[in-house]
Amino acid sequence: MKLVGLMGQFAVFGGILAGVTTLAGAQTTTDATASTDTLSERGVAHPELWPKYHYPVVTPMDEERHVEDLLARMTLEEKIGQLVQADICCATPDDIRKYHIGSILVGGSDGPNGNDFAPAPEWLKTADAYYLASVDKRDGGVGIPVIWGIDAVHGNSNIIGATIFPHNIGLGAARNPELIEKIGAATAQEIRVTGQEWTFAPTVTVPQDYRWGRAYEGYSSDPKLVASYVGAMVRGLQGPPGQRDLLARDKVIASTKHFLADGGTKNGVDQGDADISEQELRDIHGLPYGPAIENGVATVMTSFSSWQGVKMAGNKSLVTGVLKGQMDFGGFVVTDWNAHGQIKGCTNDSCPKALEDGIDMYMAPNTWKPIYEDLLKRAKAGEIPMSRIDDAVLRILRVKSRLGVFTAGKPSSRPLSGKWDILGSPAHRAIAREAVRESLVLLKNQGVLPLKPGGRLLVAGEGTDDIARQSGGWTISWQGTGLDNSMFPGATSLWTGLKHAVEAGGGTAQLSPDGSFTQRPDAAIVVFGEKPYAEFQGDRATLALDADLTGPYKTMAELKAQGIPVVAVMITGRPLYVNQALNAADAFVVAWLPGSEGEGLADVLIGDAQGHARYDFKGKLPTAWPKTPSMADGALYPYGYGLNYESPPQAWKPLPEVKTAITNDNHVWFTAGQPASSWSLLVNDGNGTANETRITTVPATALGGRVTISATDYKVQEGARRFSVSNGLVAVALRNFNAIDLRRETNAKVMLLLTARVWQAPESAEISSVGTGGTGAIQIPLDATDHFVRYGIPLECLAQKGADIQALTEPFVLTTTGKTDFAIGEIRLGTDAEKVLPCK
Ligand code: BGC
Ligand code: BGC
Repeated sequence: MKLVGLMGQFAVFGGILAGVTTLAGAQTTTDATASTDTLSERGVAHPELWPKYHYPVVTPMDEERHVEDLLARMTLEEKIGQLVQADICCATPDDIRKYHIGSILVGGSDGPNGNDFAPAPEWLKTADAYYLASVDKRDGGVGIPVIWGIDAVHGNSNIIGATIFPHNIGLGAARNPELIEKIGAATAQEIRVTGQEWTFAPTVTVPQDYRWGRAYEGYSSDPKLVASYVGAMVRGLQGPPGQRDLLARDKVIASTKHFLADGGTKNGVDQGDADISEQELRDIHGLPYGPAIENGVATVMTSFSSWQGVKMAGNKSLVTGVLKGQMDFGGFVVTDWNAHGQIKGCTNDSCPKALEDGIDMYMAPNTWKPIYEDLLKRAKAGEIPMSRIDDAVLRILRVKSRLGVFTAGKPSSRPLSGKWDILGSPAHRAIAREAVRESLVLLKNQGVLPLKPGGRLLVAGEGTDDIARQSGGWTISWQGTGLDNSMFPGATSLWTGLKHAVEAGGGTAQLSPDGSFTQRPDAAIVVFGEKPYAEFQGDRATLALDADLTGPYKTMAELKAQGIPVVAVMITGRPLYVNQALNAADAFVVAWLPGSEGEGLADVLIGDAQGHARYDFKGKLPTAWPKTPSMADGALYPYGYGLNYESPPQAWKPLPEVKTAITNDNHVWFTAGQPASSWSLLVNDGNGTANETRITTVPATALGGRVTISATDYKVQEGARRFSVSNGLVAVALRNFNAIDLRRETNAKVMLLLTARVWQAPESAEISSVGTGGTGAIQIPLDATDHFVRYGIPLECLAQKGADIQALTEPFVLTTTGKTDFAIGEIRLGTDAEKVLPCK
């Protein structure tokens, strides 16, 4: 069967292909694929082969007349302004007034007045400021109200105090479309409290490779399951397709994303290429767009990724031909964050092609001004057809009219605005708690669950009392990092939920992250799993749990060795190879990324006084669970697997345990005393490779004995390398055989993170990044400390100082002068620094 490659093979375990329909009129999948592929140009779709849908939203005559009248009165400047979306980081209300910008957004790391953690009232105040600027007609313009888009992807998840629902992968396990609609409705209400009108959700991706760091944003690898949810979520957010004037009600507009095949990229690489047949594109990734369109989704966001080498935002055959043509989508299409800049022939500052190919609005967060000026210049020169500009503006105005923004008044005057008790209300939290209960998947139970509440429970492991960790990425901050429990008022950690349930049943619970105890417990729960991540920082090379997160395995084994029944609870955005934990524990529960209502876990795990379950497990795997770190080896548990309290007792045959790499995160370059594969750790005198030593084993010496390299502990035994320098200039570098391109990371404010400990401070120290086209350097104050410190060096800063960020060969060089003694624990990319170096 030609249809499926390596990734598709895994999909077979997921049960995906079972229901895939063949191309219209074709007898076998192979023939149909071959016939279109051989005849066609790569990346060009055949709209006539795609299903037809009907977009049910009709603009009433009076409203149509209104928007057409507006269009007729708009200047070219006003029209172009509508096509542009700016981030509040980088455009003021005055900019919106002056340039007639159509929409604003807030990126995951941005917030009102530059504060990602701004309290809820500030969001509403900010909404008013931008709205009022947009409707100011003093310059003689028509004053089209601006609309504000936000990533409310699991609740109004940027806002402190909001209800945080489980991420989509957990909802996929719940198999409950009615619950999805309730979540959509609750999310819409919480968005309305803070004054936004538009959410960049639902993500309707159908991930085919869970090494992708955004896989958890998708409900399932099975397109049918995803499609069964989409309509419910869109209705929950927007209301039924015939309903208008959403701002007079408790609704917002939705955006299905990312069109198309964001979850189909090769090796699960974020923003990569889906090199798949048109049939797979249509039947796997296209399927959820049917119900989205039939439920009147107002907007669609294009994907950063490519299909057959062509970037989505610049694929006319798919955006205009398939989506707007064959599928009848009548709303407007927005691009993703500067994604237009990745289209062939475009830059971040100039890309008329995207508009010509069918997108209607440019998400140009910090590039809105050059994009605006460039479009205006070209439109004036007649380079862009006016009919395309008018069509795009009309589509945006129709959506605004349906939303009711022309008559709604300023955000703070609308229903629900400023009703702070709706944000994280008990009713919404109850829905989230129900969702947590229903999303849990039981993979193993040797008769220990449900736990009786009367006894003594030990709760161990990492992340047990950490709401940020159980919430994952896209929570308050972009990557979900840099948060603590105080930023989740009203929320409940897994630990607090368990403690409440046990105490309510007359028992006692003890929190002990490392598993130690003074009084022998009757049972133990050990929480482990992934730490928060989002876009591209979550990409991995294999499906093994990162080695530095496997510490709790030892705790499980030790408790079990003492005869204490162990329940493993895994916090994770994806199925991973965790056979050691599956073997070590007596029961194994996948909690996914449950969000703010940790009590949902206790509801199912802790029984009543008689030892009977209060709630049973309902969750079923939304995708297959891997047998080894390589998905090509097939499934340990198939798609749809999940035990409950009625399941017959399971015989346990120990699973094979394979050794995994020190790290499979390509953003980690040095950890556990070793450079990651393809990297070398070097010591030289800063004058090239002549006097260079490559450090493989320790102890070692370099530069004629001026440097001694030894091992010291960090996180794990001998997890760091210590450099004792007697005098002079010394450079410690990480070199990659292939130059690496960090443009995307730089754009997104990612930092180079150095975790180091200093015994004796050098006379001076600097970090530099060496690229084929230039080097950038910055001073680093390495003061002596008695512990390791994680320093953050913004990539943006290294780029500003001249580093060729597109082709770095030695992205990390630490140069010191004078006598010094320091150790390096980790070198990686990330966002969670303890000390950020100022870019002076
Ligand atoms: C993401 C989108 C998101 C947008 C705005 C992009 O980087 O891919 O999913 O909606 O940023 O934050
Ligand atoms: C994300 C934004 C985020 C930004 C960080 C983008 O890729 O989508 O939401 O705020 O990077 O600077």
